[in-house]
Amino acid sequence: MLHVRNIQSSYRRVPAIRDVSLSLNRGEIVAIVGGNGNGKSTTLRAVAGLNALDGGTIMLKGQDISAVPAHERVKRGLVLVPEGRRLFPRLTVEQNLMLGGFTTSDAAKREQTLQFAYDTFTVLGERRRQQAGTLSGGEQQMLAMCRGLMSQPDLLMLDEPSWGVAPKLVTRIFETIQLIRQRGITVLLVEQNVHRALEIADRGYVIQTGRVVMEGSGQDLLGNDEVRQAYLGM
Ligand SMILES: Nc1ncnc2c1ncn2[C@@H]1O[C@H](COP(=O)(O)OP(=O)(O)OP(=O)(O)O)[C@@H](O)[C@H]1O
Ligand SMILES: [Mg+2]
Repeated sequence: MLHVRNIQSSYRRVPAIRDVSLSLNRGEIVAIVGGNGNGKSTTLRAVAGLNALDGGTIMLKGQDISAVPAHERVKRGLVLVPEGRRLFPRLTVEQNLMLGGFTTSDAAKREQTLQFAYDTFTVLGERRRQQAGTLSGGEQQMLAMCRGLMSQPDLLMLDEPSWGVAPKLVTRIFETIQLIRQRGITVLLVEQNVHRALEIADRGYVIQTGRVVMEGSGQDLLGNDEVRQAYLGM
């Protein structure tokens, strides 16, 4: 599904990612973990085409998309749900969802995904005509994920989906990521909640100061002493 090879990206010439390589097979959940400021979000933004590359290549479904503009990557099935949700607070829940769907011309698919959103999160259905800004933090996160799904992704990238979400809803978020995978969508997940992320991930990558320093199956990383000490407080 995705092959990222030796990518580099910077902000005003200050490198944020220096050497990141990763790959995702179709249908996998893959987690990127690492401490604050190590380049996790920048990696996702670079893959989405929001940050320019200084070097390296990104292949999606066998095609080199390194120079393809961000909106075109969405059309090709690569969708990012960014950090901090980025909803339109004054638009209704349903309007926010429909904005996610404007890239697809397939009305039946749009309707089906809308139904999935309302079935999975009944609160979104109940409040479909309410302003998105009136939802709780966790509910807004669910809305942001569903808006991403409305773009009919093959690969969905989620940046900190459990951030700012009450513990009760965190479980829902992680269950939903597994449901999304069951729908045949590949998931690249960045999470502060390293334990939960590695639990549901097939594989994971550890990023430190802009480089991949470790990779392995979710279970292997969970059992790894360095990972346990650095990220799990054990
Ligand atoms: N818009 C920006 N302008 C300048 N520097 C930035 C910008 N965004 C990120 N950086 C810098 O790039 C580096 C990587 O940041 P990034 O946001 O990718 O880290 P992260 O791993 O996602 O961190 P966090 O866990 O805090 O979300 C950091 O040094 C950060 O300060
Ligand atoms: Mg981040």
